Amino acid sequence: DKGGFRHFMAKEIAEQPAVLADAIAHYLPDGLHLPLDFSDVDRLTLVACGTAHYACHVAKYWFEQIARLPVEIDIASEFRYRDPVLSPRQWAVFVSQSGETADTLAALRHASGKVGKTVAVVNVATSSIARDVDVALPILAGVEVGVASTKAFSCQLMVLLVMALKAAHDRGVLDDAALAAHLADIRALPGLMNQAMTVAQPVAALADDLAEAQDILFLGRGPIYPLALEGALKLKELSYIHAEGYASGELKHGPIALIDAHVPVIVLAPRDALFEKTVSNMQEVMARHGRVLLISDERGIREAGADCWRTIRMPEVPALLAPLLYAIPAQLLAYHTAIAKGTDVDQPRNLAKSVTVE
Ligand code: F6R
Repeated sequence: DKGGFRHFMAKEIAEQPAVLADAIAHYLPDGLHLPLDFSDVDRLTLVACGTAHYACHVAKYWFEQIARLPVEIDIASEFRYRDPVLSPRQWAVFVSQSGETADTLAALRHASGKVGKTVAVVNVATSSIARDVDVALPILAGVEVGVASTKAFSCQLMVLLVMALKAAHDRGVLDDAALAAHLADIRALPGLMNQAMTVAQPVAALADDLAEAQDILFLGRGPIYPLALEGALKLKELSYIHAEGYASGELKHGPIALIDAHVPVIVLAPRDALFEKTVSNMQEVMARHGRVLLISDERGIREAGADCWRTIRMPEVPALLAPLLYAIPAQLLAYHTAIAKGTDVDQPRNLAKSVTVE
């Protein structure tokens, strides 16, 4: 049932404030409730495929910044073949919407018995991955039908963020007051997500122009860099337009050669500690006549939006939560561009919802 929406994807994007509120009610009923104690763990390895892997990539920034806990991230199809160094002082975390992705399941089997604990961050509670780990943490996104993962991504991020905060508190690097402040911010997130849904209109207005592009670049820095990768993945899988995500600072090491007046460059730039750096990378693009779409908040657009091709205004958001909020424009850009191109949004060619073969 599409609930009055044209596609499951549109419905699932719109559901994000509500399902995140469910996850918040589950993990933060009052304080922070998570059945894991990070006091004695030295290192985490986060393993997943596709969009779930990008959630892990964001989480690496969170665990390292907030909890000072070293994190490795792996694509599941690479993990077991590179024969990773694993130890009992380390935990392995497997992130999967379906819980049936063959490579992720094989990675779990490879790690089991070699690490201190295996953990799943999973949507389907009865899945193989949920059953085979020591601790399964539900993301509570509800059934996701659209092949492109949307609400599962934001709920994966939510659970990973709660884990990072728990780790920080357990390891004594985040005091009670700082934790409480972060939890208050998280409780306000569904409201901000609702506000961010209003970008659907300006995004839809851009879609015809984006649909004509041959190549599109997404740029971001810090924890927003994986969002650039996710925006590019969504766009290519749904609209079949070639897209790539880069860390903005990496542009001058090669990809800037691609820039000309035909390549839209989408800059995801919440006003965080790296905003000025992102803006200077963006100006390098504009100096080469790149067509920049800047996605930032009101002040960010006022400070840096003047010569951009287009701008999209987002609500202001605490830096920690920006990856969750900026998932919305990334998803909507792919959705509306695909509609403008007339592709099958809920069932893109060559893709399956659950990849159960290696
Ligand atoms: C992209 C997408 C895929 C999945 C990937 C992992 O929109 O949906 O990249 O994220 O196939 O699937 P799960 O999370 O079920 O293991």
